Amino acid sequence: MTKKYKFDFDLFESFQDMCFVVSVSGEILSLNKVVYNILKVTPGNLIGQSFFDIVEPSFITKTKLAFTNCIEESKSDNIYTKFKAGGKVFDVNLLYAPYSFNEKNANQKDCFIIAKDITDQRLKEIELMRFYYVAQNTVNPVQITDLQGKMVYVNPAFVESSGYSKEELIGKNPSVFSSGKHSKKFWSKMWNTIISGKVWVGEVENKRKNNEPFYTQLLISPILDHEGRVTGFFGIHRDLSEKKLLEKQLIHTQKMESIGTLAAGVAHEVGNPLASISALVQVVQRSTSDEFAKEKLELIKKQVTRISKIIRDLVDFSRPSNYELQLTDINQNIAEAVEIVKVGAKAKDILFDLDLSEKIPLLPLISDQIQQIFVNILLNAVDAIAELEDKYKINRITIKSEINEDYVIIIFSDTGKGISDENLSKVFEPFYTTKKEGKGTGLGLWVSYGIVKSFQGDIKVTSTMKKGTTFTITLPIQP
Ligand SMILES: Nc1ncnc2c1ncn2[C@@H]1O[C@H](COP(=O)(O)OP(=O)(O)OP(=O)(O)O)[C@@H](O)[C@H]1O
Ligand SMILES: [Mg+2]
Repeated sequence: MTKKYKFDFDLFESFQDMCFVVSVSGEILSLNKVVYNILKVTPGNLIGQSFFDIVEPSFITKTKLAFTNCIEESKSDNIYTKFKAGGKVFDVNLLYAPYSFNEKNANQKDCFIIAKDITDQRLKEIELMRFYYVAQNTVNPVQITDLQGKMVYVNPAFVESSGYSKEELIGKNPSVFSSGKHSKKFWSKMWNTIISGKVWVGEVENKRKNNEPFYTQLLISPILDHEGRVTGFFGIHRDLSEKKLLEKQLIHTQKMESIGTLAAGVAHEVGNPLASISALVQVVQRSTSDEFAKEKLELIKKQVTRISKIIRDLVDFSRPSNYELQLTDINQNIAEAVEIVKVGAKAKDILFDLDLSEKIPLLPLISDQIQQIFVNILLNAVDAIAELEDKYKINRITIKSEINEDYVIIIFSDTGKGISDENLSKVFEPFYTTKKEGKGTGLGLWVSYGIVKSFQGDIKVTSTMKKGTTFTITLPIQP
């Protein structure tokens, strides 16, 4: 390395990347100080050595091949490789440039190599890649927005939960996913928090593309650059649907329980005086010869009987375990309930379609109570069919019994008038009825609910307006 090279070595030293001049045979003819600084090799040590000695062994073949190509075809080339020096490995980008440095022999081909150390950059890339994989594969919906609040990234979980495609979301505001149920103040508070560089956490109700609600806990964090300036926002959702559902069920159960307790109290308090009234009415009726009084007393008796029936229902709900359990044949019970209901005038045009599984074991239940449930559900179905005004309607009640793992499932479907979504949750509430005064007390399903629950079972309803309703009862085989 001396004057024989045309190259101005001061310029060589001004490069910030490692620079080498390498002969055709791969011998290092010259290099700049940066090489020593980065590779931490004693100055002078590398001159005369093979350039490929500092290449990490598994990259030698690739690096040599590109080198030979460069010399032979006199073309520069760019490749990624690794250096190894002093036990450390470096990620480097090599730029090969063919050049003749020998003044005396213009045909002598050497190679000028610039090696850019990209170890730190690579580490950052790997780190970014790691986060990218986390974001892509987490079950939590993630969104990243720019300063204007437009989405620049959404992960697959976000796509899945929202029901929108990635293309439909990128460039939009996350409000496409919003239910519109939260106040302006709610969002402006959020916005003020994140704009000031702080993290915001809240529970939100979102809306999927198909309008279904989707409850999540949302965390939004600003993304800051090196200078601490906000450059965008990162939002991550935690699915709360299951929690919400459980909460709703719990509230419902608690409500039913408290009503039950109340009902038991009322039944007790009202039942006794009612019994005295009933007895007194009978006494007076027998001892009077006044026709007018007799007639009115008869009316009183009728009303008292009606109240007594309600009281009995209340008691049934709150005290089902007073009876003895007996092994009960569910299918036989269904068949008997159908026979009872069929007798009614409204049922005469209705087809009862029974599909009962033979495999259902006897269950330890209170037979009368189970039958009471079935009769009530069937009577409701008959009423619902009668109330549907449709010339072309099909009058059918389908009853199916089956086994599903540890449960017996009984499904009652009718082709009646149906129940609207908003009334669906009310049907199990006491005194909820849509029937004419004197026709229904609105206790049938409430009592049914109480009885089924007392056997650790469940009763659910689904319905479509003007199409029909399905009640599904689940009873554990081993309660
Ligand atoms: N199969 C059904 N189709 C449509 N609506 C129904 C059906 N079953 C129940 N309902 C609705 O639920 C209400 C409550 O039913 P529930 O059996 O508790 O009381 P009811 O039938 O009105 O009175 P009760 O049974 O005490 O004589 C009904 O009035 C009706 O509006
Ligand atoms: Mg009823």
